[in-house]
Amino acid sequence: EKGTYPHYMMKEIEEQPFVVRKIMSEYSDEDGNMFMDPGIVQEVRGCDKLYIIACGTSYHAGLIGKQFFEKISGKPTEVIIASEFIYNMPLLTKKPLFMFISQSGETADCRAVLVKVKEMGHRTLTLTNVKGSTLSREADNTLLLHAGPEIAVASTKAYTAQITVLSILAALVNNNKNINIFKELSKIAYIMETLCDDKEKYKELANKYLVNSRNCFYIGRSMDYFLCLEASLKLKEISYIQTEGFAAGELKHGTIALIEKGTPVIAVITQENINLNTRSNIKEVKARGAATMVISMRKISQETDQIIIDDANELLSPLATIIPAQYLAYYAALLKGCDIDKPRNLAKSVTVE
Ligand code: F6R
Repeated sequence: EKGTYPHYMMKEIEEQPFVVRKIMSEYSDEDGNMFMDPGIVQEVRGCDKLYIIACGTSYHAGLIGKQFFEKISGKPTEVIIASEFIYNMPLLTKKPLFMFISQSGETADCRAVLVKVKEMGHRTLTLTNVKGSTLSREADNTLLLHAGPEIAVASTKAYTAQITVLSILAALVNNNKNINIFKELSKIAYIMETLCDDKEKYKELANKYLVNSRNCFYIGRSMDYFLCLEASLKLKEISYIQTEGFAAGELKHGTIALIEKGTPVIAVITQENINLNTRSNIKEVKARGAATMVISMRKISQETDQIIIDDANELLSPLATIIPAQYLAYYAALLKGCDIDKPRNLAKSVTVE
């Protein structure tokens, strides 16, 4: 039940800090140490490459997961859109492990890949929110997201749950050596809560920048780029504002031609090493009339940035940054009078290929 919330989407956005904490408790042993089925951890450790298969928001979580597996666990990882896998199957390594990320566990495009790689004799692991779902039953192993039922069609808490579970798995694969993931996750859960307290501000920004726009761009580099892909999917699917997420450095290779006076461009800057380059991209679009909004991390923020996020681990930053982006989408849709929980033409679980 959505209780006192006007929409499921708002309820699910606000549940996210609690979902991160719930996942930490679900994946702890009696002493509070990180724990997952050792067989699963061992299997990820033992494969020579991880192939992540997913669609939509789950694919975007997979892109973040790849960074965890490569940077935290040193495990080569490839992320592939399920519906494309069949046509362009990558050359597989000797000992691949296939990981399916799916909130519903019912997505037909993922199932088609699962059936195919099982026929080929490969090992499979499903990350899903739904116990007993098709992808869970048919894979060799399952990790649950523990996000609770997600009712709104636009996925919010499943995305943050997927990222959280992926970060824990990546840390365990590496014996939790380089990074204290639980400490970082606790910190970020708190930051996520404080971001949820700033709703009125996101509503004003949505009103000022988005409601009257035909299109919008999210730009960022590195982790922020992957975040921008998800942020733009949220905005377009519920507010119907045509929105694209771009690698900030790619803008000048073509897309900058679309910038007109008043085009909203939302830049995301959470990492120190990309700060200056993304800032210069902001200047480039501003010079062409864009209405720019900046979401930045406190340590590299500037006074004029509209949304500032308290300093968090840079790899985990999407868990925090997605919150203002989800609210911007929510309020843009609300102010335009759209059906937030049931956007047109979309279904919660996509059971056709
Ligand atoms: C977007 C959204 C979709 C799903 C996609 C995959 O908000 O909800 O893009 O993420 O259809 O669904 P699952 O994760 O159930 O396989």
